[in-house]
Amino acid sequence: MEKIMVMGAGALGSLFGGLVANAGYDVTLVAREWHVAAIRKHGLRISGLTEITVDVKAVTSPEAAEPPDIVFFTVKSYDTETAAKQLKPCIHEETAVVSLQNGLGNEERLSEILGAEHVLGGVTSYGALLKEPGHVAHTGVGDTFIGELDGEISKRALRICEILNDGGIKAEAVADVRKKIWEKLIVNAAINPITAIARVRNEGLLHGELRWLMEATAREAASVARCAGVNIDVEAAVKKAVEVATKTGKNESSMLQDIKRGKRTEIDAISGEIVRLAEKFGMEAPINKTLHALVKNMKYQA
Ligand code: PAF
Repeated sequence: MEKIMVMGAGALGSLFGGLVANAGYDVTLVAREWHVAAIRKHGLRISGLTEITVDVKAVTSPEAAEPPDIVFFTVKSYDTETAAKQLKPCIHEETAVVSLQNGLGNEERLSEILGAEHVLGGVTSYGALLKEPGHVAHTGVGDTFIGELDGEISKRALRICEILNDGGIKAEAVADVRKKIWEKLIVNAAINPITAIARVRNEGLLHGELRWLMEATAREAASVARCAGVNIDVEAAVKKAVEVATKTGKNESSMLQDIKRGKRTEIDAISGEIVRLAEKFGMEAPINKTLHALVKNMKYQA
């Protein structure tokens, strides 16, 4: 049986790792000290849509685990480089590393450090919240897409999806994972910074000026995607942002939560990457650039 590691097991990584461990797989979570200590003492508790307590291995560094065959890489986008360098000496020739992170550019950074042959892209809209050390809430069922960066539907991508499915997680191997990553990125770019700046729940974007701003941001981000060679339908992307803001209306976006808790946000990997790519292709992305500048200068206010 494969050895599975979750590198950066916060809310989502703990949920996925816990569900897969519960299906009988050999899983090790690599997480923060306080989370590891609680899991070792009481097991990992999952509450909400799933109610279980799982006995799962937990360590604070990848060196403390056996060399993994599959790694679910769920660290915050700004920690990608540091975590990948830590992971590098711990993997073997055949290890597959699946990024399930937010934003753009994570797979490229992982490929540079680990070697492109190890890296698969992934995207998920499952919802999870870290309630307290050792306890994660399963707050939403979504879709998970996994794919090779060259578009092949490989055996390993299918096997990774099978493992997730065994854990009760909907997952599909796709040829166009970059497009799926962009689709999520556009939604995040249109919802997260505006909710963080205006301090509103997602439903606060559905009316008036903020509705206009959300739609204009999504439209601009989708145009950048097209310039970058990703076949996104611009108006469908705008509709999708509105749909997600409607469906998750009562939620506070992850970026608003980060700002309120005084934590660093993932704005660079979201709006920042859109602006970087726009400039690379000689385009302007003034709305995303403005949102990026404003969130960067909020200094993670509590
Ligand atoms: O980051 C988030 O908060 C979520 O991805 C989403 C879908 C924007 C809803 O809040």
